Amino acid sequence: LVQLKDVTKEFNGQVVLRGIDLEIKSNEFVTFLGPSGCGKTTTLRIIGGFIDPTGGEVLFDGEDILKIPAYKRPTNTVFQRYSLFPHLNVYENVAFGLRVKGRNHKQKEEIKALKLELKKEIQANPEQKEKIAKTYQEKIKQVKSKFITKKQFEEEIKFKVNKYLKLVGLEGFENRSIQKLSGGQMQRVAIARALINEPKVLLLDEPLAALDLKLRKEMQYELKEIQRNAGITFIYVTHDQEEALTMSDKVVVMNKGEIQQVGTPIDIYNEPVNRFVADFIGESNIIPGIMKKDFLVHFDGYDFECVDKGFSVNQEVDIVIRPEDIDIVPRGKGKIPGIVDSVIFKGVHFEIDIKTDTRVYTVHTTDYVAEGKEVDIDWFPEDIHVMEIW
Ligand SMILES: Nc1ncnc2c1ncn2[C@@H]1O[C@H](COP(=O)(O)OP(=O)(O)OP(=O)(O)O)[C@@H](O)[C@H]1O
Ligand SMILES: [Mg+2]
Repeated sequence: LVQLKDVTKEFNGQVVLRGIDLEIKSNEFVTFLGPSGCGKTTTLRIIGGFIDPTGGEVLFDGEDILKIPAYKRPTNTVFQRYSLFPHLNVYENVAFGLRVKGRNHKQKEEIKALKLELKKEIQANPEQKEKIAKTYQEKIKQVKSKFITKKQFEEEIKFKVNKYLKLVGLEGFENRSIQKLSGGQMQRVAIARALINEPKVLLLDEPLAALDLKLRKEMQYELKEIQRNAGITFIYVTHDQEEALTMSDKVVVMNKGEIQQVGTPIDIYNEPVNRFVADFIGESNIIPGIMKKDFLVHFDGYDFECVDKGFSVNQEVDIVIRPEDIDIVPRGKGKIPGIVDSVIFKGVHFEIDIKTDTRVYTVHTTDYVAEGKEVDIDWFPEDIHVMEIW
C-alpha cells in the first residue's frame, strides 16, 4: 500500500534520514520505534506530505505521491498533543473534516476526474471530439444527479459522527465541551476526527505520550481494536518498546536515521539482528563472543552449545541472553559460577544481578534468592541468540 524507496532527508546539511526502504501493506498496524531524534516523526511527516524528502520515492498503491499535497493524500494524522478546537463541542470537532471537504465533495472530485479523462481522450482522438464530449456530458449528468441537499448533508454528518464516536467509545458525548473531557477522551475525539475522513492510512505520532500509564495501557488496547474494526492501516510512532511490541503487526526499529530491523514483535524480540535492537527492545545481557563453528560459540572463557549457524569460523559476534531465559541453579549445576549481587522485587518477578568473573548477568525470575549466595547461572542452547556485529 505504502512504499518508501531510498528516502533521505537533510535539514540544513544535517542528514536525518539515510535511505529508508520500507513496504507497508493494507490493514497493517506498523510501528516506528526508536530513540529520540532517530527520525521517526520526520519519516511520518514525509508520508503525510507535511515535509518533502531530500531524495527517494514515496509510493501509494504504486503511484508517486510526492507531488500530492498533504490534504489530498489518502492519509490523516493524529498528533502527540490533541489539536482539537476548544470552542467547539465533541460533535463539531469530529464533524470538522467533513465540513471542510464540503457537501458533494466526492461527486465534485468524480466530475473533476471525468473532465480530465475527457480532455485526454479528445487529445488522443480529435476527430471524434463531439461524440466523446457527449458521452462524458452524460456521465457528468449522472454524477450530478447524485448531489445531495444541505439537509441530506447534515444527516450524513450525523450518521458518520455517531458511527465514529461509537467506534472510539464516546457515544453520548456529542454535546460535551472539549474542556470538560479527560486526556484520554480528548485523544479519542482526535482519533474519531481523523477517522471520519475515512483515510486509507492513519498516521499517529506518539498519540498516547501525554497520558498516564494506566490510561495509556487502556488506550493501547482500544486503538488496536479500533484499527481492527475500522480496517485501515495505522502507522504509529513511539519510543516505548513495550507499546510497540503489544500493538503492532510489524515493528520498524530505527536508529540515527536508519532502519535497523523490520519484523513482527516476536521476531524483533526473539531474533534481534544486532546489539542496538537487542538493547533497545528489552533489558538484555549482551556479550561479545566468537563463533567457533556452527552450533558452538565462545564467550566469557567457555564454549557453549547454541542453535546458530552460518557464521565464518572464529567470527566475532554479539550474544544476547534474555533475563527471563537465565536460570539460577545451585553451585556446580549450571554453566557459569557467580554470586548474587542484588535482588530487586519488580512486582511480578525479581530482578537479580549475578556477578561472575567477567561481568554481571541480569536474571528475571519468580524465585527469590538471597543476596551474597554462591550460585551458577544456566540456560538452554536455544536461549543464546547470536548476532552479527554491524
Ligand atoms: N524542521 C527541522 N529543522 C531542522 N532539524 C530538524 C527539523 N525537524 C527535525 N529535525 C532534526 O531531525 C532529527 C530527527 O527528528 P525527528 O523529529 O524525526 O525525531 P524523532 O525520532 O521523532 O524523535 P522524538 O522521539 O524525540 O520525537 C533530529 O535530530 C531533529 O533535531
Ligand atoms: Mg518525534
